[in-house]
Amino acid sequence: MEPAAGGGQQARRRPAGLIGLHALLCLSLLLNALLLAHHFLPPSRLLGHDGGGSSGCGLSWALRAAKEAEAAAAVDCSGHGQVFLDGVAGEDGRPGCECNACFAGPDCSLRTPDCTADANSGNPLFLEPYWRRHASAGAVVVSGWHRMSYTTTDGHGLFQSIELERQIRRLHSAVGNAVVDDKHVVFAAGSIQLINALVHALSPDADAASPPARVVATAPYYPTYRTQTKMFDGREYRWGGTTALWGNASRNSTDGFIEFVTSPNNPDAQLYKPVLGGSAAVIVDHAYYWPHFTHIPAPADEDVMMFTMSKPSGHAGSRFGWALIRDQDVAKRANKYVQDSIMGASRDTQLRMLGIVKVMLANLHGEEDIFAFGHGVMRTRWRRLNAVVSRSRRISLQKMAPAYCTYFKRIRDPSPAYAWVKCEREEDEDCHEAMLKAKINTRPGVLNEASSRYTRISLLKSDDDFEALMERVTDLVNAERYDAPGFSSM
Ligand SMILES: Cc1ncc(COP(=O)(O)O)c(C=O)c1O
Repeated sequence: MEPAAGGGQQARRRPAGLIGLHALLCLSLLLNALLLAHHFLPPSRLLGHDGGGSSGCGLSWALRAAKEAEAAAAVDCSGHGQVFLDGVAGEDGRPGCECNACFAGPDCSLRTPDCTADANSGNPLFLEPYWRRHASAGAVVVSGWHRMSYTTTDGHGLFQSIELERQIRRLHSAVGNAVVDDKHVVFAAGSIQLINALVHALSPDADAASPPARVVATAPYYPTYRTQTKMFDGREYRWGGTTALWGNASRNSTDGFIEFVTSPNNPDAQLYKPVLGGSAAVIVDHAYYWPHFTHIPAPADEDVMMFTMSKPSGHAGSRFGWALIRDQDVAKRANKYVQDSIMGASRDTQLRMLGIVKVMLANLHGEEDIFAFGHGVMRTRWRRLNAVVSRSRRISLQKMAPAYCTYFKRIRDPSPAYAWVKCEREEDEDCHEAMLKAKINTRPGVLNEASSRYTRISLLKSDDDFEALMERVTDLVNAERYDAPGFSSM
């Protein structure tokens, strides 16, 4: 046999025993490498489905983007921040770590001492660890030519993906939180867009003889119902304030009223029902009617319901919501509103949501059930906050009891998205201010048209946010011992 070029002379001079040993060593190394590869690589990579066994593992145009995404995800931000592909580029041209609140430094390793805990917004980052655990299943590749057209699969100008609608219907049916069979589905850019779309859909025509509809809600309510309605106040409808103002009127006639009901409620997490009754139209906002946040007593079946992806999957940044509407004409009007304002929810978002809903569905009732995960996190947070606040005479929280959940098929502990805090001391009339002095940023109850004695704490944010919150609340409660009249440290 001809020796290999280059090494031939040397090999010829080696004794035969040495050559055998060398070959044995090489074979053993090769076998070890194969064993390790078999152990650690997924079968598709082992088999080299690219046909040619290239380093792209069968990928051509998606490979560069995938590598870039993985490189960003692999940057170490000390567990207190992340790198996003669209982050601000540093001197090296690459996006750097974006640190969680109370952490700083290039790799987010520096804890900001005594920092203010931010419990203001409803940012659902408690679910981020879930999607990190499901990095592969939750990833979506978007080609440069993905749905460049205005149209999508529905084909009749609704700009809604048929497949996404199908999967959303499946999710509701599988979770048992809404009856979908007799409902039309209307997509929007976040459920926030649906507020006005649905009010418009339920109001009399601008040129009708009837007076404008009155849009009302029971305090404490989600403030955007007011701010958005007021923004468009006009011939069709106007903000009518809280239902308490219409107690007498509603006994006589509820004609021309549109009542917003949030169930469970933001900010106090109670499962509310409409209060006006009669012929008032009702829009039920079920943003939190998912098993992370509440027990599900039965599937919701109101005429007009709002849902969002922001709270069940946590993808608030994708801006995707949908309405379930029984009446075809109301659905048509709501859809026309969305078409006239944005020509349908972003097709890129619809693609991403399709992938996300499929992952949620695939894991229902399994070990990686997103609702079991979410409930676990939220229940623990509520328990921990309650344990500290129960020692306080200065602040109190809403009362919540365990209840039977049809999804989990057992009694489950409460796990609200928000804590509705009441300041009990006479001098703490402005509860938001009192909390801010204790370095806790909350959302003032006056925004919900409640008394200033109330303020809202968000429990939805990241683990870092929650730990900072627990530190500050513990300090606040511990300090009560020293504030108490007649207290002596002797
Ligand atoms: C009760 C309620 N409805 C609607 C929304 C808006 O959600 P989206 O992110 O879908 O616009 C929120 C957001 O916090 C909410 O709390």
